[in-house]
Amino acid sequence: MIFAVDFGSQTTHLISRRIRELGVSAKILHPEEAYATVIKEKPKGLIFSGGPSSVYEKGAPTIDERIFSLGIPILGICYGLQLTAYLLGGKVVSGKKEYGPALLEIGNWKLEITKDLPKSFVVWMSHGDEVIALPKGFEVLGSTEHVPFAFVEDRKRRIIGLQFHPEVEHTENGKQILENFLAFCESRHPDQVVRRAEGSRDSSTSGRTVWCIPSLGMTNGEIEKIIGNIKETVGNSYVIGAVSGGIDSTVAATLTAKSIGKRFIPIYVDNGLMRKDTKEQVKKIFKNIGVIPMIVNREEEMFNKLKNITDSEEKRKIIGNFYIEIFEEEMQKLKAQNIQVELLLQGTIYSDVIESQGTKHASLIKSHHNVGGLPKNMKLKLLEPLRFFYKDEVKQIGRVLGLPEEFINRQPFPGPGYAIRIRGEVTRKRLEMEKQADSIVLEVLRETKILNKIFLSFPVLTGAFSTSVKGDGRHFGEVVAIRIIESKDLMTSNWAHVPYEVLQKISSRIVNEVPNVSRVVYDITTKPPATMEWE
Ligand code: XMP
Repeated sequence: MIFAVDFGSQTTHLISRRIRELGVSAKILHPEEAYATVIKEKPKGLIFSGGPSSVYEKGAPTIDERIFSLGIPILGICYGLQLTAYLLGGKVVSGKKEYGPALLEIGNWKLEITKDLPKSFVVWMSHGDEVIALPKGFEVLGSTEHVPFAFVEDRKRRIIGLQFHPEVEHTENGKQILENFLAFCESRHPDQVVRRAEGSRDSSTSGRTVWCIPSLGMTNGEIEKIIGNIKETVGNSYVIGAVSGGIDSTVAATLTAKSIGKRFIPIYVDNGLMRKDTKEQVKKIFKNIGVIPMIVNREEEMFNKLKNITDSEEKRKIIGNFYIEIFEEEMQKLKAQNIQVELLLQGTIYSDVIESQGTKHASLIKSHHNVGGLPKNMKLKLLEPLRFFYKDEVKQIGRVLGLPEEFINRQPFPGPGYAIRIRGEVTRKRLEMEKQADSIVLEVLRETKILNKIFLSFPVLTGAFSTSVKGDGRHFGEVVAIRIIESKDLMTSNWAHVPYEVLQKISSRIVNEVPNVSRVVYDITTKPPATMEWE
């Protein structure tokens, strides 16, 4: 068993997922309870997560210093390293901020912890602070251009520190580093490390039970257990399901339909903000699943509610609230027909939760419409069977459930739809521009056979204006940004290196065909620091 101490990182749960993927049980703890729990439960290793705070700021999460004298191997990641250095007598400052890729050069790769690593490789950073003096006993194993203490070790106290994030998909050899750390823990106590080839389903994150399945070990049996859990949670009630035609809500709906059959009623809300053809796709998907969805058209009201709204958080909350208002109305209508609905199924996944400040020390990045954007006084209780799964795991469940590959690989589309791709007010005219530009991007990527190689693509109406010359006349129109990205679990992403000719084609078609557009720019920002969506 490895314990991950959560200092508020976006990726603490991802760390525990990686550990489980390597066949070892993992549990997440708050720093306040860590020392007492470690003494009691004696894990074989500890991982200190990153976090949004600075170690020297008032109220920053800290840990009982006695934890360093227990002889249990510790891996400090980012804030975890900074806190360790700070508490053991090193120096941390607000350093050169670094977000995204950096080249790590390993100075000593013959140690247990650097075993099988190449001499240099790309790692992903996300930090504002930096360790500038190591505590006594620490040695440097690797550095990047800007971070001399990127990979450090105190062999005697069995502490490893990493300024970068080995848990994210885009860090090369991250899994190898974690595997080396597990071996490092195991080699000292080979008889005590809990190895579980199939991973662990029931682990808890600070008291909350999580259904965790390592993606590689997904089987029919595992999925049967999720279906059983839904059945138990629902009891005799009816469930209405918020479905959007996307992979998350469709997988959640398929699991629920398998659990409770006709007591599950999917509802698709047509609010005018979805991609064209979505309604038809929803009908088709649910016909295959064997349940008929209710289609509710509320486009006019959605527009009225978004009138004059320019703040992105406000937009998300209005949209999230409106969805719930509609589902509660439908619940009342069903009640009048003697159908007792108590639960609302949502296809919430873990990246929605964590960005909406899902853990104690985490920062709010954005309120996903189905988590932080929900009203406080909801009557319906939530059923969220995918709440602790990542996108790639949800796709894997979809595959085991027999959903077609073409559907599984379709681009995700956010619940608040085009509204969060239009900076500023969502007017009918601007929505039309966005839809037209979106169709062009998709068409060009399909024609050039790039669509199936990328994760997500979309244009953004930036709300910025610039001058252009159209037919010898001056034109002052909106700047459209194109975002094309590759990612697996949504936690990190890189911009797609699309050939220039393809970008050229997209740009020419948009400025020529979409009225009121003056220029097109390509967004080449990684996540972190940028999120995928602009709002
Ligand atoms: P970000 O922008 O958070 O995007 O890096 C990660 C993924 O989440 C989607 N996204 C949302 N999905 N409700 C959703 O259902 C939301 O409020 C929301 N915000 C972002 C985004 O499209 C991407 O796939």
